[in-house]
Amino acid sequence: MTASAKEKIIVALDVPGFARAESVLDDLAGAAAWCKIGMQLFTREGPPVVAMARARGFRVFLDLKFHDIPNTVASGARSAAELGVDMLTIHLCGGPEMIRGAVEAAPGVCVLGVTVLTSSTAATLTAVGIPHTPADWVPSLASLGAGCGIGGIVCSPLEIETVRRAIGPGPKIVTPGIRPAGADPGDQKRVLSPAEAIAAGADYLVIGRPILAAPDRRAAFEAMAAELA
Ligand code: C5P
Repeated sequence: MTASAKEKIIVALDVPGFARAESVLDDLAGAAAWCKIGMQLFTREGPPVVAMARARGFRVFLDLKFHDIPNTVASGARSAAELGVDMLTIHLCGGPEMIRGAVEAAPGVCVLGVTVLTSSTAATLTAVGIPHTPADWVPSLASLGAGCGIGGIVCSPLEIETVRRAIGPGPKIVTPGIRPAGADPGDQKRVLSPAEAIAAGADYLVIGRPILAAPDRRAAFEAMAAELA
């Protein structure tokens, strides 16, 4: 198995608190390279949980999906960069000035743009006054992000090909909604297996429950990495 297969999997640290986060990372230390810290864990535990993951050798994807006025998002991105995170997320619908502000404020960080949340349907967009379907708005936001220097796009596995066409070869594609064959999809509706998502052109896979809920988390991680190698 190559190191690069392991480096393509980002473990979503969707756990309630510090002790569980430590236990998951202790199980995966030396195997996994990346973890994703989202709003549940960061809101409760704050910067010390980022420091704990980094001290164990993990690269950190801080998934707080910033969306605010450009100055505030740039300040938030700068603060995240100071924590030593390697990736962070912003909402691309914040517009060009906000996107450029984040990218410029965090030069050493891969700033990822969220297009349309996979929980949104055409009806959700209509309800907030947006006259698009997710299928047509996703590539248009992705292309806006690419034009503003975004480091990558977060999208569902089924959008990988349209997003890649919209952004060209430079930015990374990061996708959740990954399930190995036979795994419980949970609330994910449109899933691909790890190998299918990489074959479709994803650079990184975000995987949570198939690893977190496994009886042997390290073995579950290793099996998925082996499928990619
Ligand atoms: O447990 P599971 O593998 O479904 O976890 C996927 C992770 O990716 C979760 O942290 C979830 O919040 C995140 N995510 C997602 N769909 C999106 C964006 C992020 O599932 N569109």
